Amino acid sequence: MKILGIESSCDETACAVVEDGRKVLSNVVATSLEEHKLYGGVVPEIASRRHAESISGVVREALEQANCTMTDIDAIAVTYAPGLIGALLVGVNFAKGLALATDTPLVPVHHIRGHIASNYISSDVKPPFLCLIVSGGHSHIVAVKDYTDFEIIGRTRDDAAGEALDKAGRTMGLEYPGGVSIDKISPNGNENAYKFPKPKVTGSPYDFSFSGLKTAVINAVHNAEQKGEKINIPDLAASFQKSVVDCLTDNLEKVAKERGLDKIVIAGGVSANSKLRSQTQKICKNHGWKLYLPELKYCGDNAAMIASQGYYEFLKGEIAGENLNAYATMPIDKSYKTD
Ligand code: KG4
Ligand code: ZN
Repeated sequence: MKILGIESSCDETACAVVEDGRKVLSNVVATSLEEHKLYGGVVPEIASRRHAESISGVVREALEQANCTMTDIDAIAVTYAPGLIGALLVGVNFAKGLALATDTPLVPVHHIRGHIASNYISSDVKPPFLCLIVSGGHSHIVAVKDYTDFEIIGRTRDDAAGEALDKAGRTMGLEYPGGVSIDKISPNGNENAYKFPKPKVTGSPYDFSFSGLKTAVINAVHNAEQKGEKINIPDLAASFQKSVVDCLTDNLEKVAKERGLDKIVIAGGVSANSKLRSQTQKICKNHGWKLYLPELKYCGDNAAMIASQGYYEFLKGEIAGENLNAYATMPIDKSYKTD
C-alpha cells in the first residue's frame, strides 16, 4: 500500500511516498529556514507564504521520484495538528483538494505521532515501547502501546527542550536554530564550566521544566555584559546542553526503570542532538535496554514520517471528510475520529 504524505506544520514544505509504512520511495523537503534566520525564529506568515508557493512543486517532485502517479496512491496523509495554523492550513487544503480531485482517501496525522514514526522508517522497531519526544514545540515521555495508542507519562510544564535551546542560543548570539548551533559548538567547550540548578517540578515525578534553565542562561549572559566580563560561549553552550540533556535522560531512565520497560525510542528534532544520542546510548547499554534512534535525515520535519504514521492511521480507519480542519494544538493521545 502506497501513502502520499504531506507536511507543512512549521517551515518545511514536505511530501513523500512511503510503501506499507516502512519503505521510503521518495522524500522531498523544501525549507524556508534561511529566511527565518534573519529574524532569529520562524515568522509564521513567511512560512505560510512559502508553503503556498512550494507545495505543488514539492508534491509533483515526490510523485516523480517515487515513480508514481496519483493512481498508484492508496491514501493521502496530511499533518493536521499541532503547528502554526496558517502553515498547517496550506498542507491541509492542498491535501483536501488533491483527495477530492483524485477520489483518494484523506488521512489526518498528528505531527508528533509522525515524529515517532520516523523510527518506523529508520528501523524495524514495533510498539510497544517507551518514547522520548523532543522537538521545538514538545517534550514528552510517552508509552507507545500500539501504532495509534499513546499514554502520556511525562511532559514539559513550560518550554519545550528545543524551544529552550533555541532561546538560549539566541541569547548567546548563535545562529538560529540555537539547538543546532549549540550542538555544533559544544564539543569546543567544557560542559562543567557553568552549573545550572536542576529544575524542580512538583506533582508528576516525570514532568520537565526548562524555562528556569533558559532564564539562568539569559541572566548569566546579561550579568557578564553588565560587569564587562567576557563569556566563554562554547563553555556556556556545552554546560546548558548538558543540563537539558540530563533533565531529559534522568526522567526517561526513571520511567523505564519504574515501569520495567526495556525498549526505548527517541524522536523529534532534538533527537538529532549528539549529546542526547550518546547519553541515551550509554544509559541503555548500562541497563541492557534496546535503544532505537531515528536516522538523522528523519529527525527534523519531513513527510516520510507523516506517510508512515498515515499508513497505520489508515489501517485503523482514521479517514477525514471534506470538512477536515487544522488545529494549532492537539493532545497526542486524542485520535481524529474515534475520540
Ligand atoms: O521536530 P522539529 O524539526 O520541529 C518541531 O516539530 O518543533 O524540531 C525543531 C527543534 C528546534 O528547536 C531545533 O533547535 C532542534 O529541533 N534541533 C536540535 C538539533 N537539531 C534540531 N537541537 C539540538 N541539537 C540538534 N542537533
Ligand atoms: Zn516537528
